[in-house]
Amino acid sequence: MQEMKWIWQYVKPYRYRMGIALLLVLIATGLNMVNPYVSGIVVDDVIRGQKKELLLSLIIITIVATLIKSIARYVFKMLFESVSQKVIFKMRDDVYVRLQKLDFHFFDNTKTGDIMTRMTGDIQAVRHFVAGVIFMVFENLVTLIFAVTMMMWINITLTLVLLAVAPITGFFGWRLASGVKPMFAAIRDQFAKLNSVVQENISGNRVVKAFAKEAYEIEKFQKENEGFRERNLEAAKLWGKYLPILETMSGFLFVIMLLVGGVMVYYSTMTIGELVIFGGVIWALSNPMRMAGWLINDVQRSIASASKIMNLQQQQPQIKNSKQAIKKRTVSERIVFKNVSFKYENEAVLEDITLCVNPGETVAIIGPTGSGKTTLVNLLCRFYDCTKGSIEIDGVDIRQMDIQKLRQIISVAMQDIFLFSDTIEGNIAYGMPAASMEQIKKVATIADAHHFISNLPEGYDTIVGERGVGLSGGQKQRIALARALMSNPSVLILDDTTSSVDMQTEHTIFKTLKQYYKDKTTFIIAHRISSVKDADKILVLKEGKFIEQGKHHELIAQKGYYYNVFVNQFGDFDSVYAKGVV
Ligand SMILES: Nc1ncnc2c1ncn2[C@@H]1O[C@H](COP(=O)(O)OP(=O)(O)OP(=O)(O)O)[C@@H](O)[C@H]1O
Ligand SMILES: [Mg+2]
Repeated sequence: MQEMKWIWQYVKPYRYRMGIALLLVLIATGLNMVNPYVSGIVVDDVIRGQKKELLLSLIIITIVATLIKSIARYVFKMLFESVSQKVIFKMRDDVYVRLQKLDFHFFDNTKTGDIMTRMTGDIQAVRHFVAGVIFMVFENLVTLIFAVTMMMWINITLTLVLLAVAPITGFFGWRLASGVKPMFAAIRDQFAKLNSVVQENISGNRVVKAFAKEAYEIEKFQKENEGFRERNLEAAKLWGKYLPILETMSGFLFVIMLLVGGVMVYYSTMTIGELVIFGGVIWALSNPMRMAGWLINDVQRSIASASKIMNLQQQQPQIKNSKQAIKKRTVSERIVFKNVSFKYENEAVLEDITLCVNPGETVAIIGPTGSGKTTLVNLLCRFYDCTKGSIEIDGVDIRQMDIQKLRQIISVAMQDIFLFSDTIEGNIAYGMPAASMEQIKKVATIADAHHFISNLPEGYDTIVGERGVGLSGGQKQRIALARALMSNPSVLILDDTTSSVDMQTEHTIFKTLKQYYKDKTTFIIAHRISSVKDADKILVLKEGKFIEQGKHHELIAQKGYYYNVFVNQFGDFDSVYAKGVV
């Protein structure tokens, strides 16, 4: 089985430890047979045979056996535990490394909750398998073999009679396990639902409050909580139905042993001592039968979890480094989009885009929401690969370039801002952890963030909350801009980076940027004319195609989309012109 092979690959380095642990399980299980056996000898030889001198040695044997058994149990438990911890440590590490390799496509199509479940619950299930299930299966199997062998050795007839009855216990155990299995699945599904309600509620708590939907949210939670309780109760009811049957069956096995064994003792085909031994090991017959169903269930559950983790670990990124990747350091020449088309799934987002950007040029892209502006720059960063055409930097197809190097020369301030729950300093220096305070302050000044950061009580050491909670939208944008500037990239992409700052601040930022970064190729994506009007080249993107391009005054003269946006934002051109706004 694939999953087992996969788990084995992790356990293999510790195979000797596992071997020793299993050997100790064997010893401990074998020693379990000592007490019943000694009891039989006490009855037959010490009490009935009057061999009192045997008693002391029997007591010593029992004490030694118990001591060895306890030590063996302790050691094998520790061994299984340590191996399982080492196994899941490596497994977790591998999954995390794999997650870092996966690209946008994977994260677009995978729920965060699913990944979190893989990293926590499923990994725990595999640990339980390595630490507990393996030894329990082995222990039960060995116990059964030891017990049956010993019983056969003492009295074959009675053993056969008991073996004929024992499978009935096994049958009920099996029925319970198979009945409870879908219930376990239902409990897990319900738990996942409950979890996602809580997770969504916490992440969206501001929306909940804004719409005063607390009561609705409580009701939603209570519904899932009730469902969870009911699923658990259903399982408990089934468990409650079969448990007395199982207990009765075990008792029944004991009764049969007494009955048949008693008759045999009466007719002297068996000694009382032998019957006592049978009485002592009868549990070893019923217990494994009873456990079998549960253990199969446990194994299945672990395999299901292993398969999910394995699946995640085998995911391949669609964006890969080419074999002879070219490690380019800086951009000194042109960026060219050659007949680029792109679709996410089936719907075309960009169609036949051709664009040539000279070094140091500032290119602005404007266009209706959803027209494909973010997608266009995502292709340049190789977050996705274009479906048709190619993008070249310095005449080299970016698919031939080393991805890490490509992303070092291009820096993006993304539209969707994410700040880590770290200090402001840590957030700005994210791409260059070795940056000096002076460098950090410099980029913060260019992004017009230094002033407000200095006014915070803890300045650059202020810890921003999860996703930047505690900062205004414009403040977050300026920190994200500073973070993008930090690595001193050759190409800078600003995706809607100044949309939340006032026009005066925006003006200051662009002025300073021009001063410090005049030789850098810059892409500015914006909806406001004020953000794009000074660019060397303005492109209007609509439904995945460039419909207009040129400089500000040229586009105004065209009286097309750009002109209309301008009129909507500033009023009639002639009157604005007269006021000297443009
Ligand atoms: N990850 C994705 N998977 C599938 N479709 C997507 C994905 N991201 C964007 N789209 C779709 O692609 C189209 C272009 O999206 P894009 O984000 O590039 O627009 P945009 O021009 O940046 O818009 P805005 O001005 O609102 O930022 C939209 O129709 C959007 O629904
Ligand atoms: Mg966008």
